[in-house]
Amino acid sequence: MKIGILTGGGDCPGLNAVIRAVVRKGIFHYNDEFAGFLEGWRGVMDNMVRKLDLEAVAGILPRGGTILRTSRTNPLKKEHGLEICIQNLKANGIEALIVLGGDDTQSVSQKLFEHGIKVVGVPKTIDNDLSGTDFCFGFDTAVTIATEAIDRVHTTAEAHNRVIVVEVMGRDSGWIAIYSGIAGGADVILIPERPFDVDEVAATIKRRHDRGRFFSVVVIAEGAKLASETDPQRGASILKESAKDEFGHVRLGGIGNALAHEIEHRTGFETRAVVLGHIQRGGSPTAFDRVLATRYGVGAIDLVHKGAFGEMVVLRGNHIRSIPIAEAIAKTSFVSQELIDVALSLQDRRGERSEAA
Ligand code: F6P
Repeated sequence: MKIGILTGGGDCPGLNAVIRAVVRKGIFHYNDEFAGFLEGWRGVMDNMVRKLDLEAVAGILPRGGTILRTSRTNPLKKEHGLEICIQNLKANGIEALIVLGGDDTQSVSQKLFEHGIKVVGVPKTIDNDLSGTDFCFGFDTAVTIATEAIDRVHTTAEAHNRVIVVEVMGRDSGWIAIYSGIAGGADVILIPERPFDVDEVAATIKRRHDRGRFFSVVVIAEGAKLASETDPQRGASILKESAKDEFGHVRLGGIGNALAHEIEHRTGFETRAVVLGHIQRGGSPTAFDRVLATRYGVGAIDLVHKGAFGEMVVLRGNHIRSIPIAEAIAKTSFVSQELIDVALSLQDRRGERSEAA
């Protein structure tokens, strides 16, 4: 069978491990042939293709990034975009397409599937916010990097009696923030799921200070929202700029610095901010992510040969399963209340006005 592969959206440690697993199992067990489309959907639109054989995937297991490169190109936003993709897939003799991507990339997979293209999806996002799967590969690597950064920040914050705010990725959900925050013992963890009040953050830090802990570490997801005075459930993300990408997302970033300024102003404690940004997405995947990515790759090529098109491989418990792509992109996976309660239960909230805060 001739199978196309592409990687779309933000890159993610483990993409190469998935590509390698797909190609090796496809060649060794199914006698497949592979074509890699470069730079996500852009490569399908502009017909940028390279052959993927055993030579092409040799040595890529531990490599970050993606040998196919990536982009946030959205064919649904281009004139005749979908038709051009279908034409180019046919012109290349592609009988099935394996798409590695998050909800945006997979929304295009779903449209192509509805137009008769045989597509299989692999969930990819360091944010871990794709629903239907317990974990996306790349998430563990991002959490490991963020946790190490929090550990390092801890010692320097303690040495200088400072508050340090660590801003991590997480556009719509706070998985990286809550995992790295719990793992790194952060004193305050702020996530998009739970709009926050700056005065409460300052009060928590002051309470620590009052009981003799003269430093604090705050972890905040880039998409965390400020609760407004009038409607605590509604807040606005702090934006870096207002221009949107082809999937309609603004570029986030800056909330860490803004929060640091407000904490210093309210507490009088010297406060600094560290923005981890793309450091979380770069470099070699952890062993966990290499194994998960490999299992997803094997699962994806098996789905192709079972004829399970329009499906995406997912991890449920410790089992690889599949669900319809349509189901995976229908909603965002948010941090569970159980995990939020774990984080809150470790925070010193004695003396707060109300437990509901
Ligand atoms: O979607 C994953 C993600 O890592 C988000 O957390 C972040 O907002 C975004 O990508 C950054 O994208 P870019 O690399 O295009 O700036």
